[in-house]
Amino acid sequence: MTNNDEILAVRGLTVSYGESKVLFDIDLSVRPGQVVACVGRNGAGKTTLLKSIAGFLIPRSGSVTSGHDNLVGRKPYDIAKLGIKYVPQDKKVFSDLTVRENLELGSYATRDYNWDRVTGYFPKLKQLMDRKAGFLSGGERQMLMIGRALLGSPKVLLIDEPTEGLAPSIVAHLKNVFGELSKNTALVIVEQNLPLVCAIASKVYALKEGRIVAELAHRESIKADVCERYL
Ligand SMILES: Nc1ncnc2c1ncn2[C@@H]1O[C@H](COP(=O)(O)OP(=O)(O)OP(=O)(O)O)[C@@H](O)[C@H]1O
Ligand SMILES: [Mg+2]
Repeated sequence: MTNNDEILAVRGLTVSYGESKVLFDIDLSVRPGQVVACVGRNGAGKTTLLKSIAGFLIPRSGSVTSGHDNLVGRKPYDIAKLGIKYVPQDKKVFSDLTVRENLELGSYATRDYNWDRVTGYFPKLKQLMDRKAGFLSGGERQMLMIGRALLGSPKVLLIDEPTEGLAPSIVAHLKNVFGELSKNTALVIVEQNLPLVCAIASKVYALKEGRIVAELAHRESIKADVCERYL
C-alpha cells in the first residue's frame, strides 16, 4: 500500500546473497523534496539496500514501489527510466572515455542533452570535458557520476557514500549541491559522515546488521550523538 505523497516506498524488504540473509524486513519511505540518509557500520547492509531498490538485486520478499509503479523484478535500466537513479559506491566511470563522452552516454540513454544544469552544479566539469575519466581525481569522478545521473531529471537519486575519501572542500561543495538538488529531486544518501548527515537530512534511518534500528523523522532529532547511539 503506497501512501499518495510517497515517491519511493520500501515495505518488508528481505534480501539475501545465496543462503545468507543480509536485510530483514526493511521499511523505508521517501517523499518529494526529502533528503533521506541511511547510516550504519561497515557491512550493515546499506549498499545492499540501495542495490535492491535500483534493481541490481532481487529481494527474497517485500515490495519496492514508486507511485503506482512496482519496481521489484524490473531491470535496473527500466528503474532508471522511471526516474530512480543509482550512483554506486565504487565510483566506476568509463575510464577510457572522456568526461564529454561519459556525459554523452548519459544523454543518449535519457534523451536529455541539457548539460548546463549539470555544469551549473559542477562548473569544474566544463574544464575537464576532454580529459579521460580514468585520470580524474576522486572528487572529480564523483561530480561526473552525480552529474551524469542528473540527466533525465530523476525523481529520486540513490547515492552510495558520495563523500568517502574526498577532501573537506569537495565535501563542502557536495553538501551545497545536495541542498540545491533536493528542491527538485528526492535524495537517498548512504553516508558515514554524521556532521554532513545532520546538516542535510530530513530523515535518517540507522541500519544495524541488516535491520533498521532507528528512524529519526524530524530535523530536530537528527544530531550526530543521537545517530552515533545506533551505530
Ligand atoms: N556479493 C555479495 N555476496 C555475499 N555477501 C555479500 C555480498 N555483498 C555484500 N555481502 C555481505 O552483505 C552484508 C552487507 O553488505 P553491504 O555491502 O550491503 O554493507 P554496507 O553497509 O554497504 O557496508 P560498507 O559500509 O562497508 O559499504 C555484509 O555482511 C557483506 O559481507
Ligand atoms: Mg556499502
